Amino acid sequence: MTTWIRGGTIVTEQETFPGDLLIGDGRIRQILPRGKDAQAPSADAPTPVADEIIEAAGRYVLPGAVDIHTHMDLDVGFARAIDDFSSGTVAAACGGTTAIVDHMAFGPAGCSPWRQVEEYHRLADGKAAVDYGFHGVLQHLNEEVLSALPRIADQEGITSFKAYLTYDFRLDDLSLMRVLQTAREAGLLIAAHCENHGIVTYWRERFVQEGKTQARFHPASRPPEAEAEAVHRLLSLARAAGEAPVYIVHLSSRLGLEEVRRARAAGQRHFGAETCPQYLLLDESLYEDPREGLKAIMSPPVRRKEDRDALWSALTAGELDTVATDHCPFTFAEQKQRGAADFTRCPNGAPGVEERLILLYSEGVAKGRLSLQQLVAYACANPARVAGIYPQKGVIAPGADADLVLLNPEKTWTLTTAQLHGKADYTCYEGWPVQGAIERVLLRGKTVAQDGRFTGKADGGQYLRRGRSSLA
Ligand code: URP
Ligand code: ZN
Repeated sequence: MTTWIRGGTIVTEQETFPGDLLIGDGRIRQILPRGKDAQAPSADAPTPVADEIIEAAGRYVLPGAVDIHTHMDLDVGFARAIDDFSSGTVAAACGGTTAIVDHMAFGPAGCSPWRQVEEYHRLADGKAAVDYGFHGVLQHLNEEVLSALPRIADQEGITSFKAYLTYDFRLDDLSLMRVLQTAREAGLLIAAHCENHGIVTYWRERFVQEGKTQARFHPASRPPEAEAEAVHRLLSLARAAGEAPVYIVHLSSRLGLEEVRRARAAGQRHFGAETCPQYLLLDESLYEDPREGLKAIMSPPVRRKEDRDALWSALTAGELDTVATDHCPFTFAEQKQRGAADFTRCPNGAPGVEERLILLYSEGVAKGRLSLQQLVAYACANPARVAGIYPQKGVIAPGADADLVLLNPEKTWTLTTAQLHGKADYTCYEGWPVQGAIERVLLRGKTVAQDGRFTGKADGGQYLRRGRSSLA
C-alpha cells in the first residue's frame, strides 16, 4: 500500500517547506520538496504513483505527536482513571498523538517490578489504537529490584522507570542514590515526580485539621517550594551519582524552573524537563469555585500567572525538553465528587491527551510564542528522543513510521467536551477558542482520525520496545 500526501506544507524540527510525502508499507519513503509553483512536483522529482492520494493543500503536515506522560486505566486504590487504553488512545489519535508512553500505577506493596509490567501488558495489549509503551515504576528498592531493571529493559524495551518523591511509595534519598547509580551504569532513565513529601503532608494535614478542605486550599497544600526543593534534590542526587540521567515530569512552577536553569548553567547535561498544557494555560483562580475547582485537582496543582509566564518564556527560549499531558482523567459527576467536602480525598488528575497538540499550536504557534519547529520539537521529536523511540517516531524522514498530522491553520473553533473522545465528562478547556484544527491523522500510513472522528482500528496500536533515552 502506497500513499501520496500531496501539496501540503511539511513541518520538521529544522524547517517548514512546501512538499509531498510518499508513504509505503507504513513508512515514509520519500520527501519531495516543491518549487515555487505549489501545483506541481519540482522538476527533478518524478510524478509519484500511489494507491491513495491525500490532498494536503493549505495544511501543515507534522509528525504524529508523541505523549510520554499518560496514565491510562490508572488504579489509585480508591479510584481508577476513567480512560482505559482503548478510550484513551482513541482520544490520543483524534488529537494527533500517535504514540504514548504510559506511566504504570503502583502495584501491591513489596511487589516485583515485573508484576506491573505483566499487568500493563494485560491492560493494554490488543486494546490500544495508537502505538504505546510503558515507563516502569519504582515503589521500593532492594537488590532484587535493582537487578530486575536492566533485565526489564533488555527483555521488554522498558528503558525508563519512574520514581516518586511524594506519596506512600516515594523513594528516600538513599534509595534514589542506588537506583540512579544503576540507571547510569545500565543506560536507563529515571523519570521523577518532584514534590517534597514533608511540605505536602504538613499542609494537607493542617488544612484538614483547620477545616480548610475546599478546592482553593489545594494549591497552597502543594506550594512551588515543594516542587523546587524536590527538583533541586533530584538534580543534586543525579550529579552526585556521576550524572545519572533523570527526567523531571510535569514541571509546574517558576521556582522549579529556576532549579532546572541553575543545573543547566552549572553544566549538568543528562537531564530533561517536561511541562504540560495545564501549567501553561490554566491558573489557580480555577480553584476558587469549590465545585468546579475539583476538575483541576491534580498534582502538582495549576499555579499563578507568573508561573505560566515563566514556563512559556522557558519554552520560547528552548529551556525545556518536552510538553506532555499527564492525562489522568476522572469523571467530574462521580469520581471527582469524592473530594466535594475535602479536596484531599479527590482523585488527582485531569484529562488532556486529545487537547495537547492543538492547544500548543493555538496558544503557542498561532500566538507567536513558539515557532512551528519548536512545536514539532516539544510535542513530537524530543519526547520520542527522551523515550528512546526516535527516529522511528516524532520525525518526518525517510524510514520513519508514517505517523502524520494534517493541521488546518485557518480554521477557528471552540473546544467543548462533546467534541472529545475520552470518557471524561469534562475538559479543563471548555469554551476555549482554538485557532487551527487537526483534520487528519495517520498511524503508520493508515488514516486513524479524520475531521474529529476516529477511523482507525481499536486494536491498531503496536507495543513499542524502546531503546536507550537520548538523556542516558
Ligand atoms: O495529579 C496527577 N498528576 N495524577 C496522576 C498521578 C500523579 O500524581 O502523577
Ligand atoms: Zn503523572
